[in-house]
Amino acid sequence: MVTTIRRVKIKDAAALAVIGKSTFYDTFTGTCTEEDMQQFLEDYFNIGQVNQELADENDFFFFAEIDGVPAGYVRMKEDYSQFPLMEQWKALELKRIYVDKKFHGKGIAQLLISFVESFARENQYEVVWLGVWEHNLRAKRFYEKSGFEDSGHTHNFPIGNTPQTDNWLWKFLI
Ligand SMILES: CC(C)(COP(=O)(O)OP(=O)(O)OC[C@H]1O[C@@H](n2cnc3c(N)ncnc32)[C@H](O)[C@@H]1OP(=O)(O)O)[C@@H](O)C(=O)NCCC(=O)NCCS
Repeated sequence: MVTTIRRVKIKDAAALAVIGKSTFYDTFTGTCTEEDMQQFLEDYFNIGQVNQELADENDFFFFAEIDGVPAGYVRMKEDYSQFPLMEQWKALELKRIYVDKKFHGKGIAQLLISFVESFARENQYEVVWLGVWEHNLRAKRFYEKSGFEDSGHTHNFPIGNTPQTDNWLWKFLI
């Protein structure tokens, strides 16, 4: 099994939309109404939206591929809009890390998070931060073992009309 990490290109938009939708669905199905879920998938993973994000050279999407097929992806961006407290540092938001459920517990997520940290260090970021749903215990454990800590700050992340609360976690690199 050969796993490679590479930047997602515009021509990969359809593949990104597919893995983006399926992994979001698998993660959050049952935590909101099906109607809210379908609307969220349409709003955030329609091909126009995905193309627009990929066209932004400061919006960093990377696939982890196994034998050339996407098994997971990350999205990173320097974006302080949701958490202005971070403006005091050069801070990278890990906006998404999603691995196909077939590959949970198989080390793909570790490869991706190590890549994120290397990317952040190479680009002189002082801290990486992210939001995680308060009840996403698997992800929280994964982040904990990857060295992330709870910042003590939270944020509303509704899926449609379903309110959800995210914890902001961070990992300082300085
Ligand atoms: C989050 C994610 C990237 C982590 O990757 P992974 O391969 O599952 O991670 P690992 O298996 O290395 O680590 C998960 C840890 O959670 C533990 N765990 C699993 N289910 C758990 C639960 N219900 N409660 C607490 N811990 C749990 C595992 O035992 C493991 O810890 P351990 O190594 O100490 O035994 C992956 O699960 C994923 O893509 N999930 C769906 C998308 C998602 O939630 N993304 C994060 C959004 S913020």
